[in-house]
Amino acid sequence: MKKNVLVIGGGGREHALAWKLSQSPRVEKIYVAPGNGGIGRITENIPISATEIEKLAAFASKNAVDVTVVGPDDPLALGIVDAFRARGLRIFGPTKAAAEIEASKTFAKAFMKESGIPTARFEIFSDYEKAKVHLVQCDLPIVVKASGLALGKGVAVCKTTAEAERFLENTMVKKVFGDAGKEVVIEEYLEGQEISIHAFSDGEAYSLFPTAQDHKPIGDGDAGPNTGGMGTIAPVPWVAKESMEKIENSIVKSALKGLAERERTFTGCLYPGLKMTPQGPKVLEFNARFGDPETQSYMRLLKTDLLDVVEACIDGTLSGLKVEWDPGYAACIVLASGGYPGKYKKGKIITGVDEAEKVSGVVVFHAGTKEENGKLHTSGGRVLGVTAYAEDLKEALRRAYEGVSKIHFDGMQYRKDIGAKALG
Ligand code: AMP
Ligand code: GLY
Repeated sequence: MKKNVLVIGGGGREHALAWKLSQSPRVEKIYVAPGNGGIGRITENIPISATEIEKLAAFASKNAVDVTVVGPDDPLALGIVDAFRARGLRIFGPTKAAAEIEASKTFAKAFMKESGIPTARFEIFSDYEKAKVHLVQCDLPIVVKASGLALGKGVAVCKTTAEAERFLENTMVKKVFGDAGKEVVIEEYLEGQEISIHAFSDGEAYSLFPTAQDHKPIGDGDAGPNTGGMGTIAPVPWVAKESMEKIENSIVKSALKGLAERERTFTGCLYPGLKMTPQGPKVLEFNARFGDPETQSYMRLLKTDLLDVVEACIDGTLSGLKVEWDPGYAACIVLASGGYPGKYKKGKIITGVDEAEKVSGVVVFHAGTKEENGKLHTSGGRVLGVTAYAEDLKEALRRAYEGVSKIHFDGMQYRKDIGAKALG
């Protein structure tokens, strides 16, 4: 029997998930809540926000949704999986207890320490004065993190103690991140390139994705403030097999085992962000979901029917499924609004998306777009993700940038060096 699927979220990641699901011969109908301008062109947008859990569950019940796939972190942290399961609805993602590995950095760090998972040395503070005293004793640079979810803005890598003190005061005294800053993690700075690891898990069995690399700072050469992610490549060509074995055993396996032992069994997609340090891979953070914009590259490589994988994770049958990936490379270039990650204007007319998709191997995923009177407008900071597939990474990047060259909107900005670090 064909299945109705609900995808929760409205960014580039959700467009990529819906696009991949729409290729499944077993999918009848896809709804995306709230969706976006591009998603609405291939499926149906549902005007319910990703955190309106009761409304989403009611929608799923009423519309005979067979499977729900969650994109963003906040509904997971709010317990959407628990709420759906309690109603007998099938949903892909971790429970609230398991998602704490992302939603609480203090939980994640303590968990890593107890489980022997390699990570930066750290201290946890809920007392501002004590944290301030500790800061002065730390080597520089120093990293200060609000414990809770803060839209990716709750982390400061500080070159001076004064900078760290300012961030600490903003977080703990001025409460710029609200309750997310009640507790902080102060940790050592780790050297090395960042990579993203993803694994599907049904709670017991897991299946690793190829490696990926995001590019978080807004500017070329990693200059400027951090964003949600300005572009990705997958796989990362220089990651050695021995490193992958270490990552699999000491990070992915240990995390899934440790969570299960603590009655926080993890189902869904586990995404550790790593630094490849001279001492080996170390975890910067765990995410309890698909990465954005990693997923835009990943969905161009996934060969297996995504619905099969999602259902195997929900049903605990992942060990019986071979998850296959295409042997080539994928790249994603994010096109952002002028001013992002700071203030930016919305409502700019976007042209050239269809032309971009005529470039061989190119698919454009929408993030912050809105369709009005048949015209596409910008409606967010990250607007589009131009992806390309090719047999080698250089060609994937060339195609993606050729796609980018066809697209225009006022103020459009993007990084010109996605993948350059990996190519060396
Ligand atoms: P997080 O949300 O914990 O991944 O932190 C956001 C970004 O801050 C990461 O992608 C890194 O670029 C940087 N970062 C976080 N922790 C550290 C660390 N201990 N050493 C170096 N950079 C870090
Ligand atoms: N790739 C960044 C994130 O999803 O958190």
